[in-house]
Amino acid sequence: MNYSINKTDTYHKKELDSLGWELTICNALYKENTVLRRFLGQDESFGRLLFRHLRGFIPVDKLIQVLEIGGGYGYLMRDFLEMNVSIKPTMLDISPFLLERQKEILKGYSVSFAQMDFLDADDYFLRGFELAVMNENLGDFPTVVGLGHDTLGLSSLDTVDPVLKKIIQFFERYGLPRPQCNPFNFNMGAIEAVEKLCTSGIPYIYLGEHSCEASAPENLKHLIKISPSGNPERIPLRGHDEYTIKFSYLEMIAKFYGYNTIRGSFADFIPFDINDRVYYALSSQGRYSDEDEIICQFVEDLYKYEYLLLIRP
Ligand SMILES: C[S@@+](CC[C@H](N)C(=O)[O-])C[C@H]1O[C@@H](n2cnc3c(N)ncnc32)[C@H](O)[C@@H]1O
Repeated sequence: MNYSINKTDTYHKKELDSLGWELTICNALYKENTVLRRFLGQDESFGRLLFRHLRGFIPVDKLIQVLEIGGGYGYLMRDFLEMNVSIKPTMLDISPFLLERQKEILKGYSVSFAQMDFLDADDYFLRGFELAVMNENLGDFPTVVGLGHDTLGLSSLDTVDPVLKKIIQFFERYGLPRPQCNPFNFNMGAIEAVEKLCTSGIPYIYLGEHSCEASAPENLKHLIKISPSGNPERIPLRGHDEYTIKFSYLEMIAKFYGYNTIRGSFADFIPFDINDRVYYALSSQGRYSDEDEIICQFVEDLYKYEYLLLIRP
């Protein structure tokens, strides 16, 4: 059985010196008065929009112990701190470079920092957090690429290969449905990360990432072309690749651990107005100007990115 494992840990620990090459939605919305913010119903940043959305489901104004995993430049947490000054954040990141950036942007607040691969975090470390946030980073976690359906015919006792054994155990333990594609890719690291968060019993968990299962709503399908493959897809980036996420598997695992789940697209909390300008950009597929292309890409991303909110009853 031939497969490979896409990993990004060395890149994040040793090479990453900018997030400019993989402009995240959070970073794209951080600065005031930018083209993108003009197209939103409100001139707001990602973290503030997310915080308001979370208010509809969890007592985010009362939370104190918040863990952010892979916080990038720290913008989301800075927004959260502006909305709730009582938060005592812990920022866990694999990248020494980004942790330094987070220290700068969060200066003046009482914040703990931990340089660590989240997959190495133990139960003791995770104890006591009320909310865990993972935004736009599950795709960086190891993905097993090019698995054949023959893998799924095995039982975990049939193989000594530790990676295959682990994957088969995930299918067995959580009753994950067989993937349609053959070969298929498997977000092993993302699944381990969610399993770790759920077994630690953190009451609220927010996950957001580029999905391989997302589609545009019926009324916008003629303008926004997204075809969900259902199979984690490679996104080539500078110095590393990441993979889109199969959210249905993460949702099943959370439910297995007794969490209630709320799932949606980023468009649920990042409102935008389909005015004539946006309609024109979308219907021309962003062909006629750089600004049209930016609008098109952004609106498409709002539907390609999904979030999953896990709530322990
Ligand atoms: C694409 S950036 C997203 C940053 C930010 N959350 C945002 O939305 O703009 C990915 C982040 O995850 C971190 N990261 C990647 N793999 C990680 C791992 N295994 N453990 C902890 N952090 C990780 C990176 O260093 C970086 O901060």
